[in-house]
Amino acid sequence: MAILDYQQLFTARANRVKSSIIRELLKLGNQPGIISLGGGLPDPTMFPAEKFRECMDIALTTHAAVSLQYGETPGYTPLRKALAELSKHDGITNVMEENILVSSGSQQAIDFISKLFIEDGDTVILEAPSYLSAIQSFQTFGAQFETVPMDADGAIIEELEIILKKLHAKGISPKFFYTIPTFQNPAGVTMTLERRKKLLAIANQYNLLIVEDNPYGDLRYSGEPVAPLKALDTENRVIYMRTFSKILAPGIRMGWVVAPTDVISKINLVKQATDLCSPVVTQVAVCEYLNKDYLWSHVETIKKAYSHKCAVMVQAVKDYFPTEVKVNAPQGGMFLWAEAPEYINTVEIFKDALANGVAYIVGTAFYPDGKGTNTMRLNFTMPTPEKIQEAIKRLGDLLKAKIH
Ligand SMILES: Cc1ncc(COP(=O)(O)O)c(C=O)c1O
Repeated sequence: MAILDYQQLFTARANRVKSSIIRELLKLGNQPGIISLGGGLPDPTMFPAEKFRECMDIALTTHAAVSLQYGETPGYTPLRKALAELSKHDGITNVMEENILVSSGSQQAIDFISKLFIEDGDTVILEAPSYLSAIQSFQTFGAQFETVPMDADGAIIEELEIILKKLHAKGISPKFFYTIPTFQNPAGVTMTLERRKKLLAIANQYNLLIVEDNPYGDLRYSGEPVAPLKALDTENRVIYMRTFSKILAPGIRMGWVVAPTDVISKINLVKQATDLCSPVVTQVAVCEYLNKDYLWSHVETIKKAYSHKCAVMVQAVKDYFPTEVKVNAPQGGMFLWAEAPEYINTVEIFKDALANGVAYIVGTAFYPDGKGTNTMRLNFTMPTPEKIQEAIKRLGDLLKAKIH
């Protein structure tokens, strides 16, 4: 008898999935007594539980036979219709239900994009920094990365063009550019309209696919809305991902993809093989929630609270952080992004931060190449305003002690 050695059976793909140092650090940040600015969580005290329960009740009474049955893979048709209608809110007008697929969170849509487009060794272009779990997904499928730096106006498109020229000179066609242009995670910045237009012009010129991820766009606290790339796209080269996680609740695990019909058909097949369909009862409840017009008043409520928390964090940073640490003041979203002088390593000082009762996410997690060791991401939606102030003070004291 021999105990089975699973290691020899795992695929190369399974072995590419690394346990993330971040998840380990995040766990440490969840200990009692520690104020965590680490996670990317909405404020649970604001979940619209009562209204959602009302919609779940309807799903389980009036629509029980549909809600508890298997559903169509691309999603519950009345919901897809409602989401096509909702796209108009983003300025995307030419969308029909056949352009929509409901996913189990936008993370699942990211997985589908990976499955659809990435072969081992393919090149994917990312903003630097970028969303950790998208990097993980692309990496699992064997992507190589090129990264575009950002400034206060979002990804620097001239740099993207340099990368595209370099790749083309080597005969490499990148599979896509993954971007979070509005209230970027983690950097908090928003790509200007001018840059968006430039990005689309360059994408047209280099025949580049753009994957636009927009979980935070509705959470604007100041400034004017900027149209999503998808609304400006004239050549069908933007795949657009949305989610209810930040505007309703992440526990319902519901996102959706807006794409040309041939892409939706392909994702449909991939989804069939993945999970047949997303939970129907939740889709019916969300459809009720939208039809009852509960969404936008809820978004207004959370925006008010988050806007206040954001302002509290921005002010606390001004009051307590050393001026050598550069921090942005975002117009929306859930995060501030801090850049300390190069000699401060935020992984190394993380233990000190915990000892002082505060946690953050080390910025290097958001770079595929280990850069950003002097950066950190700070979340303001989850803690109370009082806790935000206290956490930033503690972090400020620590950072001041490290400045020389
Ligand atoms: C940029 C980005 N994309 C996708 C997701 C995944 O969201 P979902 O809960 O819809 O899977 C997140 C969650 O934090 C995110 O920040």
